[in-house]
Amino acid sequence: MKFDIKDKGLREVGVKRIEWAHMAMPVLESIRKRFEKDRPLEGLTLGACLHVTTETANLAITLNAGGARVFLCASNPLSTQDDVAAALVTEFEIPVFAIKGENDKTYYDHINAIIDEKPNVTMDDGADLVSVLHSKRTDDLKNVMGGTEETTTGVIRLASMAENGVLNYPIVAVNDANTKHFFDNRYGTGQSTIDGVVRATNRLIAGSVFVVCGYGWCGKGLAMRASGMGANVVVTEVEPLMALEAVMDGFRVMPIAEAAEIGDFFVTVTGDVNVISVEAFKRMKDGAVVANSGHFNVELDLEGLEKITTKKREIREFTIEHTMKNGKRVYVLGEGRLINLAAAEGHPAAVMDMSFANQALCTEYIFNNHETLENKVYPVPIDIDREIARLKLAAMGVRIDTLTPEQQEYLSSWHIGT
Ligand SMILES: NC(=O)c1ccc[n+]([C@@H]2O[C@H](COP(=O)([O-])OP(=O)(O)OC[C@H]3O[C@@H](n4cnc5c(N)ncnc54)[C@H](O)[C@@H]3O)[C@@H](O)[C@H]2O)c1
Repeated sequence: MKFDIKDKGLREVGVKRIEWAHMAMPVLESIRKRFEKDRPLEGLTLGACLHVTTETANLAITLNAGGARVFLCASNPLSTQDDVAAALVTEFEIPVFAIKGENDKTYYDHINAIIDEKPNVTMDDGADLVSVLHSKRTDDLKNVMGGTEETTTGVIRLASMAENGVLNYPIVAVNDANTKHFFDNRYGTGQSTIDGVVRATNRLIAGSVFVVCGYGWCGKGLAMRASGMGANVVVTEVEPLMALEAVMDGFRVMPIAEAAEIGDFFVTVTGDVNVISVEAFKRMKDGAVVANSGHFNVELDLEGLEKITTKKREIREFTIEHTMKNGKRVYVLGEGRLINLAAAEGHPAAVMDMSFANQALCTEYIFNNHETLENKVYPVPIDIDREIARLKLAAMGVRIDTLTPEQQEYLSSWHIGT
């Protein structure tokens, strides 16, 4: 079996951590049990480009149980958990090509290693696998019947490919399922981003000015959690509706140029480029901490920052001190890569339970329906989304009401008024 990981010797820790995550993933567990029995993915080769975490390990094991051959590489050079990679290779015989801290060349070598296995379904987080297939490995496109996409940035890239007529196979946008972004992007990113910032800095959040750039699903969760820890949250936005929502949620909203002067912490979660420009860096207070939790590190103008840096040192793990020409110091966390995965462990398993239940069921959906699908980006079928919410509630022991016949009639009629 081919693989490329840091150290097989890390397996024992990885196995325990995968088990720990498994305990908080009851929905995925119920899917795994059915998959073991029915083997609905028999004959499928799946190329997955995902953050190699304990939760991803549980997804890979589930897909494997369904009969798929699974090959896994990282969707970010800094997000791999090397112990998990070791456990997957040694204990579960799932080939992994991922090493935490790999350089860009190795990152793409690993994506190519997955394509060498001729996947019929791709599973992406950020669309790098799809992008390589459509640009440098076009001969291998013929093997692919469909794919799934995990995150907002990936869905945006794929929608653009579909619009330009260059997408070669159907993709299901897992990110857009309600049981994904309502919870993963909001509560997952909210908690794990704070976790990453705290682990990297051990600074006090209470009483600080915490600037959240972008008030989408991730930004709302992050602002909520930072506020819960006693920070004065400032939001920056470009979308009037989102900015208005942030104001009504009780946060101060202002342009980044103004926020730059007052922030103690800055976290970008926009999916956009150069959200914190070199001009913003220059305006920051001495000691400001800057991180990104959006998919790519392009949200911070790190090249611009390099040009105005006179001295640079790693002051703590994942914390680089830049002394700027104006004499002030700023601290960039995790090379500007998603801080919740670079310095912490990514989302808690309980939210990934739903995201990855969507991945497992959408893989089955593509396998069964690819012949009727066009080369477009599709939403997750509503029945899958509802079923996951139902299973999650059941696993949490939460019961809800059902509509009475009278209510059903009332809600579907336009005759009954005051
Ligand atoms: N860290 C993680 O684990 C994790 C998890 C889920 C999503 N993501 C990534 O986080 C990013 C955001 O995802 P989302 O689901 O919140 O997206 P979203 O589309 O819901 O929100 C993004 C928001 O950023 C705003 N924005 C865009 N440019 C801006 C700018 N220059 N300044 C201020 N605001 C700006 C947009 O108006 C929008 O409201 C994406 O890159 C996504 O892939 C990361």
